[in-house]
Amino acid sequence: MKLIFLGPPGAGKGTLAARAVDLITVPHISTGAIFRSAIAAKSPLGLTVKAIIDSGKLVDDEATVKLVRERLAQQDVQKGYILDGFPRTIAQAEALAGFSKADKVVNFDIPDTAVLERLSGRRVCRQCGINYHIIFNKPQKEYVCDACGGEVYVRDDDREEAVRKRLEVYREQTAPLIDFYRRQGLLVDVDAQPGTEGVVSNFKKALGI
Ligand code: AP5
Ligand code: MG
Ligand code: ZN
Repeated sequence: MKLIFLGPPGAGKGTLAARAVDLITVPHISTGAIFRSAIAAKSPLGLTVKAIIDSGKLVDDEATVKLVRERLAQQDVQKGYILDGFPRTIAQAEALAGFSKADKVVNFDIPDTAVLERLSGRRVCRQCGINYHIIFNKPQKEYVCDACGGEVYVRDDDREEAVRKRLEVYREQTAPLIDFYRRQGLLVDVDAQPGTEGVVSNFKKALGI
């Protein structure tokens, strides 16, 4: 199954993807996570995108599309994938249609108040990228990842001004994709407001699994 996860920052796309990969056994591809690894490795891509991401703006379409096109050419994703955080502009969606066709687009339906609450408490493992939350999903030991022992930190783009910018960019450039995919009959709405188990159950119902 080829799925796109579409939703505002902090909607829980990465958290649901981590659960969904066990249900549908396909790789999880997060463009944000790929960029964060590149930044951590100080690769040429990482050095180019760091300031853009930290400020909450989007990386340019050309670089992002190239990255996804190369990733989707690999063997492990020929039967399916979860694309989390891509496409994020109409231009990216049009480019994607030229090299891969998604079966469904999962639209995370969630109000801004919930998004702000989730982002302000989010913590992420620097080593394996797992998401935590200081209230909803705490690691057993503060600052230490349960899965790999890595350091659990606050993402640089979770500062207040960057979050405001990300929400504005979402509304202007990404939200138009909801209608774009609805018109193609691909959109499936998932209520993303309940706790993680509730969202997993809404996702299963919405996709009939
Ligand atoms: P990206 O990493 O994709 O960030 P995002 O879209 O802003 O989304 P987030 O990762 O912030 O949120 P999420 O929906 O995954 O929520 P999470 O599961 O963590 O992109 C980062 C940046 O990279 C972009 O700003 C841009 O600069 C660049 N970029 C990436 N893709 C790009 C593209 N295609 N084009 C151009 N630029 C691109 O959950 C959030 C918190 O809530 C966590 O603490 C979690 O524990 C908690 N939580 C999750 N679900 C629940 C629940 N059900 N109940 C309670 N708490 C929950
Ligand atoms: Mg994410
Ligand atoms: Zn970890």
